[in-house]
Amino acid sequence: MTGQIDLWPIALPQPGDDSFGNRMMVCERRLSNDERIRAKRYEPRRRAEFVITRGTMREILRRYAEQQTSRLVFQVGPFGKPSLANSTIRFNLTHTAGLAMLAVSRHHEIGIDIERNRSIENALEIAERFFSANDVASLRRLPRQWRSEPFLLRWTAREALLKARGETLDELGRISQLQFNEGPEIREACVSLGQSKWWIRTIRPAFEIVGSIAVDAPGLRVVQRRLGEAL
Ligand SMILES: CC(C)(COP(=O)(O)OP(=O)(O)OC[C@H]1O[C@@H](n2cnc3c(N)ncnc32)[C@H](O)[C@@H]1OP(=O)(O)O)[C@@H](O)C(=O)NCCC(=O)NCCS
Repeated sequence: MTGQIDLWPIALPQPGDDSFGNRMMVCERRLSNDERIRAKRYEPRRRAEFVITRGTMREILRRYAEQQTSRLVFQVGPFGKPSLANSTIRFNLTHTAGLAMLAVSRHHEIGIDIERNRSIENALEIAERFFSANDVASLRRLPRQWRSEPFLLRWTAREALLKARGETLDELGRISQLQFNEGPEIREACVSLGQSKWWIRTIRPAFEIVGSIAVDAPGLRVVQRRLGEAL
């Protein structure tokens, strides 16, 4: 799947949901010692989410890397982006209430961000703080009640790009000033940042979830995967 990005949804426990006990045990066994120590520092809900996402992520990545889960070595970039040591496999993780998504590419740097597609009352005010004048104008042209989704697409596009680059606030200024097309949708956009070019794609990976992926190559196929299916 050189020219492909795989998206793996990972269901997370919701408040009051006790049905994750078995999965927690299985996932916990896959963690490294460092991850177990990190998990213990979290309050119970965040701990459950962390154990399930990390444990499932290890299982998925093991299959790409053709290694045992315990042999995968993760490293962390200067701004916190996890990656696999000594591997061309690239991945990035995002979570929102009840769902995490893991994006995997065999060779291409990638970032992903998802959000629940909800009403954002102060979309324009947030956009004025973080988006380019052009993007703010695009939102302003829309009736107030139709602004939330276009806002979320532009927000997640910027976050996905930040995450693909593995940067954080250092690049926020430049990424804020990007301009996307004028209509409410983005679907696909190419942006230049210094010497590098990035392709941004809108995704709708589950009911009421919208988001974006950013990748360093054009025309890659995006394939939605299901846990348990063969690679
Ligand atoms: C650190 C940051 C990645 C947090 O993102 P988020 O939307 O809160 O969280 P997400 O669920 O999408 O992603 C978290 C995951 O990304 C990964 N991650 C952490 N740091 C990362 C980085 N610097 N780059 C890429 N991925 C990173 C980790 O796997 C993390 O999961 P974990 O906590 O379980 O280990 C980053 O996006 C950030 O701080 N953004 C600034 C916010 C902002 O002002 N945005 C304005 C947009 S214009």
